[in-house]
Amino acid sequence: MESKKQAAEKAVEAIKDGMVVGLGTGTTAYWAIQKIAERITEGLRIQAVATSLETEKLAKDLGIPLVPFSAIETIDLTIDGADEVDKNKNLLKGGGGALLREKIVAYHSKQYFIVVDERKRVDQLGRFPLPLEILPFAMELTLAKLRRFGEATIREKGGSLYVTDNGNFIADLHFFPINDPQALDAQLHQIPGVLETGLFSHALVTNVIVGTKNGEVLVL
Ligand code: A5P
Repeated sequence: MESKKQAAEKAVEAIKDGMVVGLGTGTTAYWAIQKIAERITEGLRIQAVATSLETEKLAKDLGIPLVPFSAIETIDLTIDGADEVDKNKNLLKGGGGALLREKIVAYHSKQYFIVVDERKRVDQLGRFPLPLEILPFAMELTLAKLRRFGEATIREKGGSLYVTDNGNFIADLHFFPINDPQALDAQLHQIPGVLETGLFSHALVTNVIVGTKNGEVLVL
């Protein structure tokens, strides 16, 4: 927990007055959001957008000013977590189920900071099952196509199917090693019921900020 917090707090140092800030989802982004709220009480003036309903609620509870997407043209800086980061800064995300909104926000962010603890750094992506947001319509057919790539399971929570903030399902695809994340992402996007994948290209990423056990924070 401490290394996640340190990485998150380091990222928040980059936020400046007047910015539109994207708020990520998950246990590491949580610490960034807490720190942003603290800086706001000290006088920081920003507007924020959230990558999930959970984050939106947290931000509201902490008094972080949220703006609708219709009121902005771009996002200056987003801080989000990841489930895996490879040597080229490609990411695997979506353990928390927010990958579709996260990818939209990432795509529109001028700077995109990823905050992780060192356990998330991997040589190759894919030990963590790859989350895909899929449309409920004809999902059995979508799943059958996904099973050509590897074992695919529909995510459940509390005995029922997990439903995303967008009313869709998550399929977790077991595919290791992912040698070419961009190629796999493109192939998966060929399947019509796949709305988005948890593969985030290094091209989206400005910095990966890593908290380590010894308290050192690395900026990659
Ligand atoms: C949410 O859907 C995910 O993409 C998270 O950003 C990712 O799972 C990292 O979460 P933690 O910071 O909780 O490990």
